[in-house]
Amino acid sequence: MEQNKSSNVVWHHATVTRERREALNGHRSVMLWFTGLSGAGKSTLAHAVEEHLYQNGCRTFTFDGDNVRHGLCSNLGFSDEDRVENIRRVGEMAKLFLEAGVIALTAFISPFRSDREKVRSLVPHGEFLEIYCRCTLEICEERDVKGLYKRARAGEIKNFTGISSPYEEPEDPELVVDTGGLSLQDSVTKVVELLHERGVIGQGEH
Ligand code: ADX
Repeated sequence: MEQNKSSNVVWHHATVTRERREALNGHRSVMLWFTGLSGAGKSTLAHAVEEHLYQNGCRTFTFDGDNVRHGLCSNLGFSDEDRVENIRRVGEMAKLFLEAGVIALTAFISPFRSDREKVRSLVPHGEFLEIYCRCTLEICEERDVKGLYKRARAGEIKNFTGISSPYEEPEDPELVVDTGGLSLQDSVTKVVELLHERGVIGQGEH
């Protein structure tokens, strides 16, 4: 990582702490990190989980690769180097949302194991929940919702994940969701169960 360029800055401690925000919200804040190929269903699942949580009174925010690349990361492309920086920024941003007491959901391909592990190491143990949206390249390509696989095969898009750029599967994710086969509802249930198991949301109220 780049060296910190800001010297002579002193950390200011807030009186409204994360713990107090969590108590106000009635749930803990964690990062739900959805990873997988383009078209695997990361965004769809993240937004559906968010909808469920919202309806149950939780404070949430979803960071979506395609959207973030229009703003915060609009100066980044799809070289290995740019993907590393994309994930670094998103990780730092999601970390701030944890401080804000929010359940932060992220939907990025995040193809490199080392980048996901770096984000994991940014937050206390147990607060980064890696959710692998497992769907074969064949199915993603067959769906080709955005028509990008076709263009990548035709050589019109360089460095396309799964075709001309690697995807490193998670080795020990907190959860694997077979988004290639499971229904959206069953996938949401799996994630919500994980949140209950980890004590992020209470058994009764959420
Ligand atoms: S990541 O690799 O840096 O994590 P990110 O999730 O932000 O990627 O963006 C992926 C989205 O960008 C894809 O869903 C797809 O719509 C679009 N995209 C455009 N070019 C590429 C490419 N070369 N490889 C993968 N996705 C691409």
